[in-house]
Amino acid sequence: MRRSLMLGCGSYLPEKILTNDDLAKIVDTTGEWIEQRTGIKKRHMAAAGEKTSDMATAAANKALAMAGLKGSDIDAIFLATTTPDNTFPATAVTVQDNIGMGGKGFAMDLQAVCSGFIYALATADNFIKAGQVNRALVIGAEHFTNLLDWTDRTTCVLFGDGAGAVVLEAGNDGKGTKADRGILSTHLHSEGAYRNLLYVDGGPSSTKTTGVVKMNGKEVFRHAVTRMSEAILEAMHENDVDASEVKWLVPHQANKRIIDATAEKLNLSPDQVVVTVAEHGNTSAASIPLALSVAVNDGRIQRGDLILMEAMGGGLTWGAALARW
Ligand code: ACO
Repeated sequence: MRRSLMLGCGSYLPEKILTNDDLAKIVDTTGEWIEQRTGIKKRHMAAAGEKTSDMATAAANKALAMAGLKGSDIDAIFLATTTPDNTFPATAVTVQDNIGMGGKGFAMDLQAVCSGFIYALATADNFIKAGQVNRALVIGAEHFTNLLDWTDRTTCVLFGDGAGAVVLEAGNDGKGTKADRGILSTHLHSEGAYRNLLYVDGGPSSTKTTGVVKMNGKEVFRHAVTRMSEAILEAMHENDVDASEVKWLVPHQANKRIIDATAEKLNLSPDQVVVTVAEHGNTSAASIPLALSVAVNDGRIQRGDLILMEAMGGGLTWGAALARW
């Protein structure tokens, strides 16, 4: 059976750091409040002139290096971002040029906010399974700090900038069972009736401005735990996998309390959960590949480990993916 094997991953965080104490000088908050309610200690901010495509390229090059491949070996780029360099062209085509793919294959952006990486992974996986793509780069990259209202303490303390990437390659030796390496299944959902819980109040066809993030935090929190748990259970049921078989949960890094509540609901022990939110806050579509890269590079995630990835974001959108690294 044809499967999408995960050959390598990489991540990038900008140099500049904004600590909770730095934020306490900008808005009416305290470092303790932020850390207690979210688990976040600091976030990274892109430098002046540093674009989403720059961060995406840095992460992509690291993922390519781990996979032992060059940009010209890649057939397709699926770049999840809410913060493209420009309204058009797609940021992915800049990355295509930056990594030296030339005119080979194609590159596209996907927009599902914090669920973007899962959406991009699912899309790439389906192109690979259909036989249309052999090697793909799946990237999540965000310049999210450009969407923040720095006078709104309920949102500006939560987000940061960064990028993460994964290289996928078609493999044909899968037996069609959960013992196979690669992506076992992906599960995508959205419900537009909830789009006003979390949105940006601008855009090309409405205000002709970029806009800033608006959020009903309490409602988003409630939906996050429920929806992500449902998506995880869907992935586990489809593959006949129970919690003891899952080696690692690599969740969207929005809030430590959301991650803990989701893991508890599913009887996953805290030791099975990769948590990096303290170091970079919510980097939206970048957060899952960022966390994955940390755990692969520090040796926690080993070849053959079963990993569950899940996310929820504005839309609402949510989803999960089960894969054997
Ligand atoms: N510093 C100090 N006080 C604050 C801050 C702040 N930064 N932000 C809010 N408060 C105040 C509120 O004004 C409120 O004050 P009041 O009681 O006088 O009205 C009080 O703290 C409690 O506010 P709540 O909203 O009830 O706080 P809560 O415990 O729900 O935490 C939070 C807020 C952290 C935003 C939480 O609701 C949350 O994490 N929601 C999910 C949001 C999220 O993760 N969004 C990202 C995108 S979606 C995703 O990635 C899953």
